[in-house]
Amino acid sequence: MSSSTAALTAASAASAALLVLAAFAGGVEARERESAWLPAAKKMAAAPKKVAAAAAKVPAVIVFGDSTVDTGNNNVVATMLKSNFPPYGRDLGAATGRFCNGRLPPDFMSEALGLPPLVPAYLDPAYGIADFARGVCFASAGTGLDNATAGVLAVIPLWKEVEYFKEYQRRLRRHAGRAAARRIVRDALYVVSIGTNDFLENYFLLVTGRFKQFTVGEFEDFLVAQAAGFLAAIHRLGARRVAFAGLSAIGCLPLERTLNALRGGCVEEYNQVARDYNVKLNAMIAGLQSSLPGLKIAYVPVYDDMLNLINNPSTLGELYIFGAVLFSFFTGLLSQIICFTYAGLENVEQGCCATGMFEMSYLCNEKNPLTCPDADKYFFWDSFHPTEKVNRFFANSTLQICLRELLS
Ligand SMILES: *[C@@H]1O[C@H](CO)[C@@H](O)[C@H](O)[C@H]1NC(C)=O
Repeated sequence: MSSSTAALTAASAASAALLVLAAFAGGVEARERESAWLPAAKKMAAAPKKVAAAAAKVPAVIVFGDSTVDTGNNNVVATMLKSNFPPYGRDLGAATGRFCNGRLPPDFMSEALGLPPLVPAYLDPAYGIADFARGVCFASAGTGLDNATAGVLAVIPLWKEVEYFKEYQRRLRRHAGRAAARRIVRDALYVVSIGTNDFLENYFLLVTGRFKQFTVGEFEDFLVAQAAGFLAAIHRLGARRVAFAGLSAIGCLPLERTLNALRGGCVEEYNQVARDYNVKLNAMIAGLQSSLPGLKIAYVPVYDDMLNLINNPSTLGELYIFGAVLFSFFTGLLSQIICFTYAGLENVEQGCCATGMFEMSYLCNEKNPLTCPDADKYFFWDSFHPTEKVNRFFANSTLQICLRELLS
């Protein structure tokens, strides 16, 4: 390489440098594919062919739930729970109302299925029915399976999300015609993520009467019954392929860790509740699938994915290539300094925003000087919500399950 570049002029040497770098990057990529130390990345790299086949069969991604999947509906709701200001959206280029530095799992799933890279919020006036025909989000941050949960921060209750879904279908029929509308509703991939707020914002915060009315076990049963009612309702309205997220390890959210400061670590009681609820949710899902014709529901094990990442933060590592090409035009020698690092998550306990201990919504704002410079090193963006990097991981993991259980 050095002998062939010796005669080059400065201008062509610069372009040669790019070629050399490209060649090196290409070589690294090839090695990366063969190596065994990036199993997660390998799994994702193997997916595209299957995803492409499934994509042809999925006309839209339709989303219900809470802040984990709300792409901006709360922007136009009279609530304190908003995130349409910086530093939210910092790595997306705009604060859209997503509770994240970037995109949410449904956005990544939509993109992977050949649909738009952002799933529009139904209440966002910038979008119309032509957009919603390819994907729409009815989710509202702060909501829950229990009607009372939405009341705590005056957000959209789940029954109202279903009402919006009915209105959407009327608009879709006018826009695309009856037959096409029915096809879109039937073949769409539904993503549902809800339940955290029922425990953390309602039951355990003692702000509604639920903690007096129910034991925690009874409250789990009550919530699972609400989830069953919701699934039956969207099935009646034509939904057939549903990815339903279980509860995450809610005791490990930074806010709960902070409240647990005296003992330190995750709140084990809350994680136990999440595990119990997930068992009941799974049983309900199995029952519904056999009683409701044509309905396929995939349970998404967010709890396990989350704890696996927290316990093995380097899983989300990436190969970084630092390249520097130095020229000496006098000697014509080209030398390269290339070094590689493998970096994973560095912080799985605090949020990137502000102190990371309790801030979210308006408390996570631009004026706070403590916000971390690189959200990719963090599991959590604010005290309650994952970073884009983690959302991408959740999206890939969910998509694998959807391909296997809903779209094959
Ligand atoms: C929740 O509210 C809706 C609308 O008011 C109502 O139809 C539904 O029965 C309520 N659910 C429960 C469990 O109270």
